[in-house]
Amino acid sequence: MTPTKEALLDVESDRTDTGGDDGPPVLRLREVSRHYGGIRAVNEVSFDVAQGERRAVIGPNGAGKTTLFKMISREEPTTKGSVEFLGHDITRTPAHRVARLGLSRTYQITRVFPSLSVLENVVLACQGLRRGSFQMFNSAMGRKSIVDQAEEAIDTVGLRRGAKTPASELGHGEQRQLELGIALAQEPKLLLLDEPAAGLSAAERGLMRDLVRGLPPEMTVLLIEHDMELALGLADYVTCLHNGSQVAEGTPDEIRNNERVRDIYLGQGD
Ligand SMILES: Nc1ncnc2c1ncn2[C@@H]1O[C@H](COP(=O)(O)OP(=O)(O)OP(=O)(O)O)[C@@H](O)[C@H]1O
Ligand SMILES: [Mg+2]
Repeated sequence: MTPTKEALLDVESDRTDTGGDDGPPVLRLREVSRHYGGIRAVNEVSFDVAQGERRAVIGPNGAGKTTLFKMISREEPTTKGSVEFLGHDITRTPAHRVARLGLSRTYQITRVFPSLSVLENVVLACQGLRRGSFQMFNSAMGRKSIVDQAEEAIDTVGLRRGAKTPASELGHGEQRQLELGIALAQEPKLLLLDEPAAGLSAAERGLMRDLVRGLPPEMTVLLIEHDMELALGLADYVTCLHNGSQVAEGTPDEIRNNERVRDIYLGQGD
C-alpha cells in the first residue's frame, strides 16, 4: 500500500525532531519483557539511553541480550512493558517504520548478500529504507544520492578499496565492517550492535573498537559485547543482564567493582 503524503511527512518530521539535550531520551525501556511460554528470556528491563550515549549490554550466554535488541527493533513482540524511541511509543510499531524513524542494527551472525559487491550491499540497504517513503521527496529535500551515501559509509568503515569486491570474498572481519557500513548508511539516530567483534582476531577487534569509537558523537549506540574490556572501554554506561533480568547498571568503573557482576562472570551467580 502506498503511504499517504501526510504519513510520509509525519515520518520525515519524526526523523528531524530528535530533541537536543533537553529532549526525551533517545530510548526509554520500561519493564520490557519477552516470555516464551515459561521462559522469561527478558524480564522487566528498564533503562533510558540519552542522545549520544554509548551503552553496553553485557551478560552471559542466554542472558536475554539479543532478545532485548529484537524487541527494541521490533523484530520480536514485547510480552509486557513499553519501548519509547525519540519520545514515540513504538511498542507496537512495525519494524520497518521504526527503521525509518532512524534505528539500525547489526546482527550477532553477519547478514550480508554474499554474491553482491560491498557497494551493492550498502546501496540495497539504503534503497530498502527509502522505498515507498522518501524517494519522492529526495530532490526537494536535497538528500544525498543513495550511491553517495553508500560510498561515504563504505569509506567510514575502511572498505573503500574493496567497494567492488563480492561480499563472499571478504574476510570475516571485513564482513563485520560491511555490516556496520550497511547500518551506518541508513544514518541511524540509534545504532544497535550485537557483538560486532564476535569471532574477530585481536587486530580486527582493535579496528572494530576504533570504528565504534569514531562514530559521530551525536549517534546513540547500544552495544552487546562479550569481551568485557572492549565493552567497558567503549561504553559510558553499562547494563548487565542475567537470566533475563537486569542485575546491574552503572559506569564502567561501577560495573568493574560490582560484586554481583563479578560473581556472574566468575560463574558463581545463579
Ligand atoms: N524464539 C525463542 N523461543 C524460545 N526461547 C528463546 C527464543 N529466543 C531466545 N530464547 C531463549 O531466551 C533466552 C535469551 O536468549 P538470547 O538469545 O536473548 O540471549 P543472549 O544474551 O543474546 O545470549 P548469547 O550471549 O548467547 O547471544 C535463552 O534462554 C534462549 O534460549
Ligand atoms: Mg545474543
